[in-house]
Amino acid sequence: MTLQLSDPDLLRSQAYVDGAWVDADSGATFPVVDPATGDAIAQVPRMGAAETRRAIEGAERAREAWAALLAKDRARLLRDLADAMLANADDLAAIMTAEQGKPVGEAKAEVAYAASFFEWFGEEAKRVYGETIPAPMPERRIVVLRQPIGVTVGITPWNFPSAMPTRKAAPALAVGCPMVLKPAEQTPLSALAVAVLAERVGIPAGVFSIVTGDAEDAPLIGGEMTSNPLVRKLSFTGSTEVGKLLMEQCSRTVKKVSLELGGNAPFLVFDDADLDDAIAAINVAKYRNAGQTCISANRVLVQAGIHDAFVERVVELSKTVTVAPGFDPAATIGPLIDEPALAKVARHVDDARARGGEVLLGGGVHEQHGRTFFLPTVITGADMSWQMSNEETFGPVTAVHRFEREEDAIRIANDTPFGLAAYLFSRDHARIWRAGEALDYGMIAINTGFISAAEAPFGGVKESGIGREGSHHGIEDFLELKYMAWAGIR
Ligand code: SIN
Repeated sequence: MTLQLSDPDLLRSQAYVDGAWVDADSGATFPVVDPATGDAIAQVPRMGAAETRRAIEGAERAREAWAALLAKDRARLLRDLADAMLANADDLAAIMTAEQGKPVGEAKAEVAYAASFFEWFGEEAKRVYGETIPAPMPERRIVVLRQPIGVTVGITPWNFPSAMPTRKAAPALAVGCPMVLKPAEQTPLSALAVAVLAERVGIPAGVFSIVTGDAEDAPLIGGEMTSNPLVRKLSFTGSTEVGKLLMEQCSRTVKKVSLELGGNAPFLVFDDADLDDAIAAINVAKYRNAGQTCISANRVLVQAGIHDAFVERVVELSKTVTVAPGFDPAATIGPLIDEPALAKVARHVDDARARGGEVLLGGGVHEQHGRTFFLPTVITGADMSWQMSNEETFGPVTAVHRFEREEDAIRIANDTPFGLAAYLFSRDHARIWRAGEALDYGMIAINTGFISAAEAPFGGVKESGIGREGSHHGIEDFLELKYMAWAGIR
């Protein structure tokens, strides 16, 4: 299928390095594949350490002038970029659906979410205030500045091809830090399209570069990003395994890191929950992006008194989910991203079956669409011995655990090295407080399945990561404090 875009110039097959659209030094390329069809949409450069180094050096050259701009002038440019994204939302959504597979309506919503980071952080950077602190000596003044950290790098995943790049680039650029970004090999085209718009609105050369590479190139690009002394901060979203490796590599030059890593989100439904709210939330927390988000409900824990009614409603809901290619207007979920993703989901379902789980719906690939189109699946009888209770499934599978007491639910929910998001459904305010405080997670969704916003601090605890993205906390990661001790004030 050829992509029909109003502005075909948004679809690029070169990377954007230091203000220029370029090929790899070797001339090598790799295909970006539509997961719905297996067809190549574009060929993009296979870059490595040399191209990454040039992007970093370009960022360093751009750094001083970018940081010296008034915050309101950077904010103006970022606002223009957000507006440009919204004005081109149909094309950006089409590019995203083609490379990632999500339904086009959902892709368009992601474009708005992605653009909101530029708008919000541009405004927020006007409020990067310093401090004065009462000094312990009469002739002293203590002044604290908050200054941009310097050149930054970002590595982003394929599940949100537009919003993950902008969630990283927006706070960096807003406070005066250039960023070199490597998008996932499955979905580089959305990030490149954002770079086209960044160039058009006048973001200077070197301030925002995109280097591309496939899975084999990733260690070379990541290796340069984490070892180059010009880089002062890395922001990564992806697996815990890769996050640990990057953190270790960054330690050698003591770079600041922000890591948004794996989750294993518990979704707790108590007897006193509003069932309609819980079901509406499952629709988002399970079926958004076909379950391929770090905050997807992974362990659905339902109290005995409401268990059967909940299961019946989840099955009913899941029957309304339409699995189809993302460009089909009827689609509510598209394909999984690739074969390894499908293999993992299938392995989890097989394991659940083998351990006595009852598959009430789905459990395999869609008959008509085949490939990686996985059916909405509901399984009961889950416990913590199942693979899917211990690993992120990243697919449209709802596995329901039954629990009796509140303390059992909290214990099971916390029985994981991860701590990104947890969901909590109850109408009892005291219980919500108790459970909310007891859950070891960075984000608690209370009676809702949707928590993502530029205004909110997104991030996890334990092995789910370090730092926060979004909100005024998200800006701190791109700033350094500078303490100035002024003496001799008599
Ligand atoms: C993620 O899956 O990491 C991001 C989800 C979101 O921003 O909503």
